[in-house]
Amino acid sequence: MRIDHEPLQHDADGHPYSARYDDVYSSRAGAAGQARAVFLAGCGLLEAPRAWDGRRQFVVLETGFGLGTNFLATWQAWRDDPGRPAMLHYVGIELHPLHADALHQSCVDPALQPLAAQLARAWPAPRRGLHPLLFDGGRVRLTLALGDVAQMLPQLELGADAIYLDGFAPERNPAMWQPAVLRALGRLARPGARLASYTVARAVRDGLRDAGFEVQRLPGFGGKAQRLQASYAPRWTRRGAEPRAALPAHAQRRALVIGSGLAGAATARALAARGWETVVLDSGAPRLPAGLAHLRPSRDDNLLARLSRCGLAWLRTALPAAVGDCWIDGGILMAEPGSAPLPDCGPQLHCGGAISEGGVAAASGLIDAWLAEAAATPRQATVQRLRQAGGGWDALGVDGMVLAQAPCVVLANALDAPRLLRASDLHGDALPLRGQRGQGFVLPEGALPALRGLRRGVMAQTYAMPLPAAPQSSFVGATYEDAESAALDATEVWAHIAEGLLPLTGPLAPAPPAGAQLFAGMRAVGPDRRAAIGAWPDLDALHKPQAPPRAWPAVPGLYLHAALGSRGLVMATLGAQLLAAQIEGEPAPLERDLLDALSPARFVRRARLRGG
Ligand SMILES: Cc1cc2nc3c(=O)[nH]c(=O)nc-3n(C[C@H](O)[C@H](O)[C@H](O)COP(=O)(O)OP(=O)(O)OC[C@H]3O[C@@H](n4cnc5c(N)ncnc54)[C@H](O)[C@@H]3O)c2cc1C
Ligand SMILES: C[S@@+](CC[C@H](N)C(=O)[O-])C[C@H]1O[C@@H](n2cnc3c(N)ncnc32)[C@H](O)[C@@H]1O
Repeated sequence: MRIDHEPLQHDADGHPYSARYDDVYSSRAGAAGQARAVFLAGCGLLEAPRAWDGRRQFVVLETGFGLGTNFLATWQAWRDDPGRPAMLHYVGIELHPLHADALHQSCVDPALQPLAAQLARAWPAPRRGLHPLLFDGGRVRLTLALGDVAQMLPQLELGADAIYLDGFAPERNPAMWQPAVLRALGRLARPGARLASYTVARAVRDGLRDAGFEVQRLPGFGGKAQRLQASYAPRWTRRGAEPRAALPAHAQRRALVIGSGLAGAATARALAARGWETVVLDSGAPRLPAGLAHLRPSRDDNLLARLSRCGLAWLRTALPAAVGDCWIDGGILMAEPGSAPLPDCGPQLHCGGAISEGGVAAASGLIDAWLAEAAATPRQATVQRLRQAGGGWDALGVDGMVLAQAPCVVLANALDAPRLLRASDLHGDALPLRGQRGQGFVLPEGALPALRGLRRGVMAQTYAMPLPAAPQSSFVGATYEDAESAALDATEVWAHIAEGLLPLTGPLAPAPPAGAQLFAGMRAVGPDRRAAIGAWPDLDALHKPQAPPRAWPAVPGLYLHAALGSRGLVMATLGAQLLAAQIEGEPAPLERDLLDALSPARFVRRARLRGG
C-alpha cells in the first residue's frame, strides 16, 4: 500500500523542519551532535565499555526514523568500534517517509555523508510494511518499518537492546508518546535494554515507568537543560504476557539442511552469514532453470501482496555480484488481451498489459550461488528418518545409517517433509501438503520466432522468459497437474503452454520446436497456498491452541521451510531470513500477522480450534 513521500521543508535558519508537526527534525545545535550526545550516549553506545560489547548481535529500535541521522551515527559508531557485534540490527519506524534525496542532501556531518549516500541509494519506495536495507555486507541491517508507530509496534517481533524515542516534541505530536506506545515498547525491550530521548516531559517519564522502565534525567544537549535515559527493569510482568524474543544460546552453531532447492540453499546462506556451519543433504531432484519473481499487488494489500513485496525486496538483497547471470530486472508484463503492445519487451507481441515489479530469476544459478556463499556442497543422500539424539538430531538413511548429525535441522525438502516428519514420529499429518506437477520447456536460440529477442518475462495464462545467463534462449511454462494423475506428455504440455501464450504470441505450431527440452518438476502446495516457514510445533506439549501460532511450543532445534508452491523465487530468501532470525533471536523480517500466516502450526491450530 503506497504512502506519500513527506516533502522536506526548512525553517528560517535552514534546519530541516516539518510543517505537519511545526517542529524541527533535530536540535538546531546539530543533528549528528544530538544523535551522539542524546541517543548513543543514552543507550551506552558512545564510549567504551559499550552496551554491545561481547554481543554477537545487537538490536536498536527507533520511533521516528526521519532523516536517519540517529541511524547513521549508530552505524558509524559500529564501524569505528573494533569490539562491535557481528551484526547490528536497526529497526526504524516512520509514518511519513522523506524522499531519498532529502535524506542525502540534509546530511551535513562529513563523517556521516558517505553513509547517507548509501542509505539514499538503498531507500525503498514508500509502501507500508517492513523494508530490509542491508549495508556493509549484510552486517548492518536496517529494517524500515513504514507505518504509524501505534499500529507498527504491536506488529513487531523483536527484542530491543536499545530504544531511541525521537518523535517531535510531545506537545506537538502526542500520538507518538501515548501510554499505549510506551507500553508496547516495554513489550519489545529485552531485560536491561537502554532507552534514550531528548525529551523529559512528565507524561513521557510517567508512561515509561508504567511500562517497566527506570527513568533518569541527565544534562541535555544544545541548550536543552535535560535529556532522558532509562533502562528496562520491570518490577512485575503482566500475566499472560507473550514472551519477548529471547537471546538463544547455541553451544554449537551447526545446522543440517535437508534439501538443496531454493529453500535449502537460501537457508544455508542465511545461516552461514551468521557464522553457522551448514551440512546440506539432497536426494537430487531436478532444478527449475528459471522463473518469475514479481509482486502480486491487490487493492486491499492482502497477505499475498504484502508477502510478495517483502519477498521480492529480500530476493534483491541476495542476488549475487554477477547479477546478470541470475537476474533480469525490469518487471514482468502481465498481459491484458486487447491492450496496445508495449514497445520495450523485445519482439512485437500481440498485446500489452501492466508491468508488475520484479524480474526473471535463474533459479538453478541462484541455488549454486547461495550454496557457494554458504561454503556448502550438498551431499547426495536421501534422509529417511530423523532421530533426536544427545540434544540434537541424527539424519538417518536407508538401514538406519547415520548420514549427518547437528543440533539444529531445517526441513527444506518440499513435498517430502510430511513423510519425513511422519517417519520420525513428529506429527507429519499436521502438514497437509499436496503435490502439483509442473512442466515447461527450455527453448534454444531462435526456436520460437514469436519470442525472438524477448527482453523480460511475459505472462498471460502461461509465461515465457529469457534465460538470464543465455538471454537468446528462453523458458516457457507451465502446467499445473495433479501429482496423482499421469503426467502430460510433451505435446500436451506444449499445447497447454501455447494456448496460454496465445494473447501474447498469436497461434504457435502444434508441436514443440526442434531442440526444446522438457523440464518437469513438482511443487509442494499447502491448503491455503501459502508457504510453511518457522519452528515445527511440539504438538504433544500444546495446551492452548488459541495462542497465536508463532507462540506455540516448538520441538527444539527443528525448523521447516516448505510449501513454497509456485512462489519459491519470491519466498525463499525471505523464508531463510525468517528462520535465521528465529534461530538467532533477531528481529523478524515480517510483521506478526504475516508470521502467523506462514507459521507451520497454523494448519493444526485451525483443526484444533474447530475441535478436530
Ligand atoms: C515447471 C515449473 C515452473 C515454475 N515456475 C516458477 C516461477 O516462475 N516462479 C516461482 O517462484 N516458482 C516457480 N515454480 C515453483 C518453484 O520451482 C518452487 O516453488 C521451488 O522450487 C520450491 O523450492 P524448494 O526448495 O522448497 O523445493 P524443491 O525445489 O523441490 O527442493 C527440495 C529439495 O529437497 C530434496 N529432497 C527431498 N526429499 C529429500 C530427502 N528426504 N532427503 C534429502 N533431500 C531431499 C530434493 O532433492 C530437492 O532438491 C515452478 C515450478 C515448476 C515445476
Ligand atoms: C524528530 S523526527 C525524527 C528524526 C530522526 N530520528 C533522525 O535521526 O533524523 C520525528 C519523526 O517521527 C515521525 N512520526 C511522527 N508521527 C509518527 C507516527 N505516528 N508514527 C511513526 N512516525 C511518526 C515523523 O514523520 C518524523 O520523521
